[in-house]
Amino acid sequence: MSDQAVAVNRGGPTDKTLRIDAWWVEPAVTVGMLSTFLIYTTWAALVNEHYYVAPYLSPFYSPCLSTSCAHVTLGLFDWPLSPAILILWAPAGFRLTCYYYRKAYYRSFWMSPPACAVRDGHAQYSGETRFPLLMQNLHRYFFYAATLVVLFLWWDALLAFRFPTTDGGSEFGLGLGTLVLIANAAFLSLYSFSCHSCRHLCGGGLDVLSQSPLRLKLWRQVSRLNENHMLFAWISLVGVMLTDVYVRFISMGYISDVRFF
Ligand code: FES
Repeated sequence: MSDQAVAVNRGGPTDKTLRIDAWWVEPAVTVGMLSTFLIYTTWAALVNEHYYVAPYLSPFYSPCLSTSCAHVTLGLFDWPLSPAILILWAPAGFRLTCYYYRKAYYRSFWMSPPACAVRDGHAQYSGETRFPLLMQNLHRYFFYAATLVVLFLWWDALLAFRFPTTDGGSEFGLGLGTLVLIANAAFLSLYSFSCHSCRHLCGGGLDVLSQSPLRLKLWRQVSRLNENHMLFAWISLVGVMLTDVYVRFISMGYISDVRFF
């Protein structure tokens, strides 16, 4: 097929771009994935039920800081609304200001620009120099808050080995949900510790990095993780959503947990 025929089939080249490949697929998939996540997370966070079934706590409600929680982690507040609201600002702010996601949603939602060598969807460009995009600079602070949340998720994964018994006590065990919670905490850790802010925390602010062997070592490890940050961003995004679905479906009686021992 000639280049011209391919161009006609795929709708290009146009006055927006000379590209004739399917450049629009990536932004379209990004819009679909992020929109699905956003809609599901908002619903799951506000619905305020079916987020705990012993011994599994949904990551959207962890740590559960309200005294009204179905499973209280730290009863710090008398909070009448969904306890997810108390905590989700941290991971949500962390993702929203993430350097990778910024690129992804600037390109896909704002078409700024939608792809390499494709014309910007807007006539003017002011970058991140004004409010609200100036707030993207808060990313490093969200990193601290979100990392704290990840530590609680590991705690939840440990508690997921403790199954209730019929006499009101508990016993050590392993269920599929235990593995789901461990995998979720692991992927979220990989996402957090591959963050550019974490890399800066390890190796930044020094004139001669090689004179701080421990920080140099940490910086090298984080730099290696950082190469796959985009991959961890997507896996952990889908993973945290599926973990909530798993806990929710057991709680609603749609599925049963698989108990290995
Ligand atoms: S989480 Fe993506 S750059 Fe920090």
